[in-house]
Amino acid sequence: MARTYLIAGNWKMHTTPPEARTLATAIAEKHNSLKPPSSVQTLICPPYISIHAALEAVAGSGVHVGAQDCHFEPKGAFTGEIAPNMVKASGCSHVILGHSERRQYFGETNGLLNKKVRAALSEGLIPIYCVGETLTERQEEWTLAVVRTQLVDGLKDISLQNASNLVIAYEPVWAIGTGLAATAEQAQEVHAAIRGFLTEILGAVGAEMLILYGGSLKPDNADEILSKPDVNGGLIGGAALQADSFAAIIAAACKIAVS
Ligand code: PGA
Repeated sequence: MARTYLIAGNWKMHTTPPEARTLATAIAEKHNSLKPPSSVQTLICPPYISIHAALEAVAGSGVHVGAQDCHFEPKGAFTGEIAPNMVKASGCSHVILGHSERRQYFGETNGLLNKKVRAALSEGLIPIYCVGETLTERQEEWTLAVVRTQLVDGLKDISLQNASNLVIAYEPVWAIGTGLAATAEQAQEVHAAIRGFLTEILGAVGAEMLILYGGSLKPDNADEILSKPDVNGGLIGGAALQADSFAAIIAAACKIAVS
């Protein structure tokens, strides 16, 4: 059976609308020339203000566009926030939730993220719910306990009809933006455990969900990490800001998917 991959770019706080248009155009061109099988999906997540420009640039290419966060309320007096229905209506298919930078710099907790995940799901958005341990937590051998709590609390009271409605990203905090990726073995070990936790929390549907690896994923290590049986794609920061390196990671997924 062909393996399914989602290769997602998290652009973080990079790209003005004109810059997003240029980058998204280049990505769409490279994506088209790779002719990915339907089992390999590509997603880019620009800042809110650049979503429209990115969507116009990728129109017709099959590249999906997502947001990097959303609020849990559908509307109201929440200055500066964006509601899930607004993200959906703008043309996004996915929304990243619980990225470690949101947890670390904006105090987002598993409880708050549970509200966001439920709100996004009810609007028909596909949340990419991020989990991962800090360096200290790994050194203390708490990785699996930390990740399990993030999943149990963040996915509380969720019932999923379809495994494709929710995506998990395992992003060890110590690997994000540091150039120090997890080894393929470290990633596989945690991904396999996550699949077990998802089955425990969500039942059979949990076992089928896509689990992305994030944290210094680059063309150099993509082959090895994406080949691991429980790795179903990547959430990519730095290497997603250049069309060439992002396309090289998509190409690695295509190669494995059709092999
Ligand atoms: P990185 O970021 O690829 O630059 O390490 C990954 C992420 O934060 O999603």
